Amino acid sequence: MEPIIEINDLEVKYGDFTVLEDINLMIPEGKITAILGGSGCGKTTLIKSLLQLQPIAQGSIKIFQTDVDSSDFRNQLTKIGMVFQNGALLNSLSVAENISIPLKQHTNLPDKIINQIIDAKLNLVNLEESGSLLPSELSGGMKKRAAVARAIALDPRLLFCDEPSAGLDPITSASLDNLLVKLKQQLEMTIVIVTHELSSVRRIADNIVFLHDGRILFQGSYEQIQHSNIGEIIQFFSSN
Ligand SMILES: Nc1ncnc2c1ncn2[C@@H]1O[C@H](COP(=O)(O)OP(=O)(O)OP(=O)(O)O)[C@@H](O)[C@H]1O
Ligand SMILES: [Mg+2]
Repeated sequence: MEPIIEINDLEVKYGDFTVLEDINLMIPEGKITAILGGSGCGKTTLIKSLLQLQPIAQGSIKIFQTDVDSSDFRNQLTKIGMVFQNGALLNSLSVAENISIPLKQHTNLPDKIINQIIDAKLNLVNLEESGSLLPSELSGGMKKRAAVARAIALDPRLLFCDEPSAGLDPITSASLDNLLVKLKQQLEMTIVIVTHELSSVRRIADNIVFLHDGRILFQGSYEQIQHSNIGEIIQFFSSN
């Protein structure tokens, strides 16, 4: 099967500072891929460059077999959902209104249908009672789930989640993991999560990419990375 994301010789810089270098990566369709690595190694930057939120200095990125810097790619953006590291919900809008944003922006659906979609998404993330609440009235775990509901409003083929379970208690974090597995299994979504939570990676990731200092040190399964003899990986596993 063709990879859903294909990255060749990617380099990304902030000014003169090279953050990502020599990135070559194929992300398989229909799987959960975890991007793992210590703080500051470039995980969020990688996701941002995939979505063109950060320009690339060198190399190429194809998503859905389309170059991300081509004009064709603009039309494909609605097939991609993103859950930002901090959730990025709009604080002055209710949860339901937050979910309605992509639906109003990218479809001409009547309000009645939009409301039905909102209810279905809230149901999927177990927030059916919370549509009218403001983000400030939600717990950390509820905020993350609301951000996921908004990201999947348009039924994307591809979902990026930056640190979905950071700062959550183990039970809430496990329920978020279950949600991602459900999206993969029931909706055949391809999911890329950025994390440094090993318990979550072990539970849900089919494919693991380990970044260190802006380079890929490893790609493979959880079973394989556990037996890796790469120093940085051994250190990461023993300190997490
Ligand atoms: N907008 C920016 N301008 C300049 N440097 C940046 C910017 N964003 C990130 N960096 C730097 O790029 C490097 C990688 O940052 P990035 O946010 O990608 O790390 P990360 O792996 O997501 O870390 P964390 O696990 O803490 O979220 C860091 O050294 C950071 O200081
Ligand atoms: Mg980050």
